[in-house]
Amino acid sequence: MDWYEDDDLWTGFAEVMFPPRRAAEAERVVATSPLLKVAPGDRVLDLACGPATHLVPLARRGAVVTGVDLSEAMLARAREACERAEVQARLVRADMREHVEPDTYDLVINMYTSFGYFTDPGENLAVLRNACISLAPGGRLLVDVMGKEVFAGWVGRPQAVDVDGGTVFMRDTVLDDWTRVRSDWTWVRGNEVRRTSLHSTLYSAAELQALFEEAGFTGVECFGDFDLSPYDNHARRLIVRGTRA
Ligand SMILES: C[S@@+](CC[C@H](N)C(=O)[O-])C[C@H]1O[C@@H](n2cnc3c(N)ncnc32)[C@H](O)[C@@H]1O
Repeated sequence: MDWYEDDDLWTGFAEVMFPPRRAAEAERVVATSPLLKVAPGDRVLDLACGPATHLVPLARRGAVVTGVDLSEAMLARAREACERAEVQARLVRADMREHVEPDTYDLVINMYTSFGYFTDPGENLAVLRNACISLAPGGRLLVDVMGKEVFAGWVGRPQAVDVDGGTVFMRDTVLDDWTRVRSDWTWVRGNEVRRTSLHSTLYSAAELQALFEEAGFTGVECFGDFDLSPYDNHARRLIVRGTRA
């Protein structure tokens, strides 16, 4: 089993990855970001939707939303979140390397470093190609990751985060000549110790932009935050947007 197929990872560390403040942050970003602006009736696909962090606020704004995720446990959380918020969402269990719905969406999103999971570069490209095919002409794809340049500014500093009566220690290791990163997380709570490792590809802005173009996108732009700020030395994230011609 590859690391991203492990439901125990996503559920076991859900309090760390998806604390309530992330849902609040997603509400704020969807309400204010020009990159996530939707009109009532717009069709939106969230690839690797997790617990519906972005689906809920997008649906509240009238978008017709579909969430795709590989994890049944994450989809169950997404279902509960949509029910609690009293919004409708279509939720599909699928692998983002394979999920294609030709000419269907106005906006496809892939948020919070849910891209670049696969060791084979061709599989990461396949995700972008599928997204391009699934967009209607003029539709847009938005990918939000930790860019290589931003990551280089803080990698090497181990982090400790207090969560739910315990502490999560996080340490990153750069692999394969700055191509990939492994993040090792250890959660210590009383006598309980839980460990996991996440892997992803590190893309510079130029590399991810080139991959979008290879997948068939035009007008590819990079941003350093959801307020359209440039991808420069102040960037917090690497957000890439491309348009299907
Ligand atoms: C870091 S979480 C992000 C979730 C969500 N985008 C958010 O912003 O909260 C990554 C998600 O990717 C999903 N995932 C991992 N591999 C996948 C795959 N091959 N196809 C579809 N989803 C996948 C996981 O189940 C998990 O829900």
